[in-house]
Amino acid sequence: MNLILLGPPGAGKGTQARMLAESHGLVQLSTGDMLRAAVAAGTEIGVQAKETMERGELVSDNIVIGIIAERIEEPDCASGFLLDGFPRTVAQAEALDAILMQKNKTLDAVIEIRADDEQLVERITGRFTCAKCGVGYHEVFRRPLNDGICDQCGGSEFTRRKDDNEETVRSRLQVYHAQTVPLIGYYGGNGRLKSVDGMLDIKSVNRQIEEALAGLQV
Ligand code: AP5
Ligand code: MG
Ligand code: ZN
Repeated sequence: MNLILLGPPGAGKGTQARMLAESHGLVQLSTGDMLRAAVAAGTEIGVQAKETMERGELVSDNIVIGIIAERIEEPDCASGFLLDGFPRTVAQAEALDAILMQKNKTLDAVIEIRADDEQLVERITGRFTCAKCGVGYHEVFRRPLNDGICDQCGGSEFTRRKDDNEETVRSRLQVYHAQTVPLIGYYGGNGRLKSVDGMLDIKSVNRQIEEALAGLQV
């Protein structure tokens, strides 16, 4: 099964992608995570992407399309993948269609996670991540069971993203409305789009997505 998770910053794409990857044996492909890794490693792509990401703008279509085209060919993607944060422009969606056709792969569903802008600012400014295993937490909505210790791996170091301040979140939201929302129309026409209410709690959002997937003929 090959899926896209579509939604504004903070909607829960990463949170749900991790849960779905585990329950369905899919590989999570987050262009945001891949770009942050490139920035941290100081690769050529990382150097090009760094400032754009810190401003909350989109990295060029060519760069992200190139990253995804290469990654989808890796053997671990053969049993299914979950795109988290890609595509984000109509040009990226068209390129993805061409890549999938060329590789004889299909897209089973596009899950749109809907949420209100104000709640998203609160979610993103309260977010932190385990530095060791990458699990995401939130100061209010998803605290570790024991303060300061990761539930998953026992790690005690946490990181915050550079673009997770209120000003940058607001520009990321503007970019989403201007450049990514048109994809809802792009995918809406052919029955592949499933929309879920991302304002509910994490488990309820997950349940809605699982119900939408159960209805697919895969
Ligand atoms: P990316 O890393 O994709 O960031 P984003 O789209 O802004 O989304 P986030 O990762 O911030 O949010 P999320 O939806 O994953 O939410 P999460 O699950 O963490 O992209 C970053 C940058 O990279 C872009 O700005 C751009 O520059 C570049 N980039 C990436 N892809 C690109 C592309 N294709 N083209 C061009 N440029 C690209 O949840 C957020 C918080 O809320 C967490 O703390 C979580 O615990 C909590 N939470 C989650 N769900 C719920 C819930 N239901 N209720 C309460 N709390 C919840
Ligand atoms: Mg994310
Ligand atoms: Zn951890």
